[in-house]
Amino acid sequence: MPSDESLPRMIGESACFLEMQEHVSQVAPLNKPVLIVGERGTGKELIASRLHYLSARWQNNFLKINCAALSDALLEAQLFGHEAGAFTGATGQRKGLFERADGGTLFLDELANTAMPVQEKILRVIEYGEFERLGGNQTLKVDVRLVAATNEDLPALGRAGKFREDLIDRLAFDVVTLPPLRVRKEDILVLAEHFAISMVKEMGEDFFAGFSEAVQRQLLGYSWPGNIRELKNVIERAVYQHPNKTVTRLVFNPFESPYRPALSPVREMAESTAPAGSAEALPTPCAPAPADRSAEWDGQALDFRQHIQDYETDLLRKALEHCQFNQRKTATHLNLSYHQLRGYLRKYDLLS
Ligand SMILES: Nc1ncnc2c1ncn2[C@@H]1O[C@H](COP(=O)(O)OP(=O)(O)OP(=O)(O)O)[C@@H](O)[C@H]1O
Ligand SMILES: [Mg+2]
Repeated sequence: MPSDESLPRMIGESACFLEMQEHVSQVAPLNKPVLIVGERGTGKELIASRLHYLSARWQNNFLKINCAALSDALLEAQLFGHEAGAFTGATGQRKGLFERADGGTLFLDELANTAMPVQEKILRVIEYGEFERLGGNQTLKVDVRLVAATNEDLPALGRAGKFREDLIDRLAFDVVTLPPLRVRKEDILVLAEHFAISMVKEMGEDFFAGFSEAVQRQLLGYSWPGNIRELKNVIERAVYQHPNKTVTRLVFNPFESPYRPALSPVREMAESTAPAGSAEALPTPCAPAPADRSAEWDGQALDFRQHIQDYETDLLRKALEHCQFNQRKTATHLNLSYHQLRGYLRKYDLLS
């Protein structure tokens, strides 16, 4: 078994998180591909490494590549390697990630935008463990376990002809879907404290003085579109701004300032067409004023899930109305991607 340091620690106590962890432990020992699906910042990369370190392959290589960060040609060369002279600049032979991960695990992050020819080659490796280096004609055989991650709706991309459905079928031997933080309310304060204590240590201080009650309510009331990564940033910033003191204020958007420069017309146009959820397009977080919300609750027993659903439905209706029922604008206004918004509208039967 790997040491505790190599097995990434994941914090959480909520039922859906524990269920997901159980699922990961169950599928980890198998030699089959796994697809990890989840919104940004939900912990997909951590899950991929858990899958590796909980498998019999843990002593071998765990290699990762972000498929969205490279051009098609470069991605292909990185994955499959190349022979000398395969393309301009390929002076020597180079092993690709499939070769280097032989006996281990290869994590293909952000797989959804991969070009069709690369998808075809990946499928062949999954099916037969076979490929050739670019510019080579020798067929190489490897034993690599594939783990892929996406925050896109792969089946929908498959139906639209943008992703090979046979590859989806093979990758989706098992699909682990990560719950977003907003449905893991029980985990928010636990994670917040964990990140705060780590930050305190990093700053060389001895103890963490805690969060004020108002801040705790604010943490619980916010929708966390950037999930755990966003929570981590907000907490680290808060701890750093309150050295040795109880945290009494959170800054969700560090760019917020009365002196924030206005957008140039060109940038404004670019932002209005940028995909919702991209960092550049982030509007002011649409967190409810948490103190107000808690004031609405008189302490009576309530059905937590129903309450949240009613709250979300109400918020969606108001946002749609505010944006004159333009769904793209509504998505941006709520700091959701268009697909996430559509998912909510479908869930609450609000699609017109
Ligand atoms: N359960 C958890 N406990 C502690 N830290 C976590 C947990 N889940 C995620 N994190 C932390 O949150 C951050 C984001 O996690 P990770 O990079 O795995 O998410 P991701 O889903 O791959 O994000 P992206 O979609 O942006 O690639 C990392 O700093 C990670 O260490
Ligand atoms: Mg990631």
